[in-house]
Amino acid sequence: MRKNVVAGNWKMNTTLQEGVKLATEVNEALKNVDAKCDVVICVPFTHLASVNAVIDPAKLGLGAENCADHVKGAYTGEISAPMVASTGATYVILGHSERRQYYGETSETLKEKVNLALANNLTPIFCIGEVLEQRENGSYLEVVKTQIEEALFDLSAEDFSKLILAYEPVWAIGTGKTATDDQAQEMHAFIRGVIAEKYGKEVADNTSILYGGSCKPSNAKALFAKPDVDGGLIGGAALEAESFMGIVTAF
Ligand code: 13P
Repeated sequence: MRKNVVAGNWKMNTTLQEGVKLATEVNEALKNVDAKCDVVICVPFTHLASVNAVIDPAKLGLGAENCADHVKGAYTGEISAPMVASTGATYVILGHSERRQYYGETSETLKEKVNLALANNLTPIFCIGEVLEQRENGSYLEVVKTQIEEALFDLSAEDFSKLILAYEPVWAIGTGKTATDDQAQEMHAFIRGVIAEKYGKEVADNTSILYGGSCKPSNAKALFAKPDVDGGLIGGAALEAESFMGIVTAF
């Protein structure tokens, strides 16, 4: 059966020293709780190796927030999937709406990134989600279906089974405006149906689908109680150990 997962996405926050301190605090806090979910922190590239050195991988997973769509070569400033893996990280967020919106990521480049992540034993946390206008004009289900089909449906069932999906309505990210638990459930059930149509019920039932967008300790319990919401991808609330742990313990 699918796993519950709470993953932090630190985005472009914390210096190296602040990041190591935060990771150490989360790692310490996890020693005192019996977490009912896998816990992951996705941190800036510069922090990966140092954070890896201070966490217990049995309790806390580590991921990057992106990787390149090429393996190596003349791509100044890029970080490849093998580089990420060589730090000890085992997850990578791909297709975050901020990458799509500000850095022009398309389904075509994301396909390559997913392939390279999988080839380097990284678990992609693949993000999808609609913008406000699409929510309001009623096209949101179709938009998310297309994002999934375009970037992921060339994968074999075996490879698709290695993914974690994260539904992040763009209008809920960093806005304090969370999707209601019913809105999240509607979308998550729809996504599971889209997966079932392509790969069958077993693959769909085994895929973890996380919710992201202004998730915090006060709303996590209601969101995670929904049958198709398997955890969260957490931005702002992952930047303090206490609030992050408040979400981890919502299961
Ligand atoms: P916030 O939790 O800050 O809304 O960010 C969500 C997000 O984008 C996680 O990837």
